[in-house]
Amino acid sequence: MTGATIWLTGLPSAGKTTIAYELAGRLRDEGHRVEVLDGDEIRAFLSAGLGFTREDRHTNVQRIGFVAELLASHGVKVLVPVIAPYADSREAVRKRHHAEGTAFVEVHVATPVEVCSVRDVKGLYAKQAAGEISGLTGVDDPYEAPEAPDLRIESQDQTVRESAALLHALLTEKGLL
Ligand SMILES: Nc1ncnc2c1ncn2[C@@H]1O[C@H](COP(=O)(O)OP(=O)(O)O)[C@@H](O)[C@H]1O
Ligand SMILES: [Mg+2]
Repeated sequence: MTGATIWLTGLPSAGKTTIAYELAGRLRDEGHRVEVLDGDEIRAFLSAGLGFTREDRHTNVQRIGFVAELLASHGVKVLVPVIAPYADSREAVRKRHHAEGTAFVEVHVATPVEVCSVRDVKGLYAKQAAGEISGLTGVDDPYEAPEAPDLRIESQDQTVRESAALLHALLTEKGLL
């Protein structure tokens, strides 16, 4: 089976995790081997001890990219719902995949910050607004949106299933399924 890393980048509460698990379920039902490397879980283990400085965010993304490539090189569809705010971090992961001959697909879950801050799944936008935290991506920390992602998902305009279906269609089109 063809492996691939499918990275879902976007702001907090954009829908990265939700869309990734929706697609993961569908791919598993179809018999694919699937792994989801979710940002929050990774930070508790693989990236324990890292913070949210530019350097630590970069290191976090490189570690996740390394593991994703290893899995993908063994035929796993690796879904990575991780913010990855810096373009050069994402580019480094793409290059590494390219060098190894492993497919890398970049998906921008492009939900506007106005929508994300209302969803506010983890209460981060509220905490930032209340002055309890700082360094929130897209608010008072940088988010460099991909200029030419393989797919841009406007989650505010469609259902989770529709977003997953778009991504599924892209993978089919790329010959990865
Ligand atoms: N069309 C949609 N696509 C994705 N998520 C949506 C959509 N509409 C509402 N949501 C909700 O938005 C929230 C997104 O949260 P989550 O997936 O954890 O975001 P992220 O992983 O990007 O931080 C979830 O509660 C989800 O149910
Ligand atoms: Mg998430």
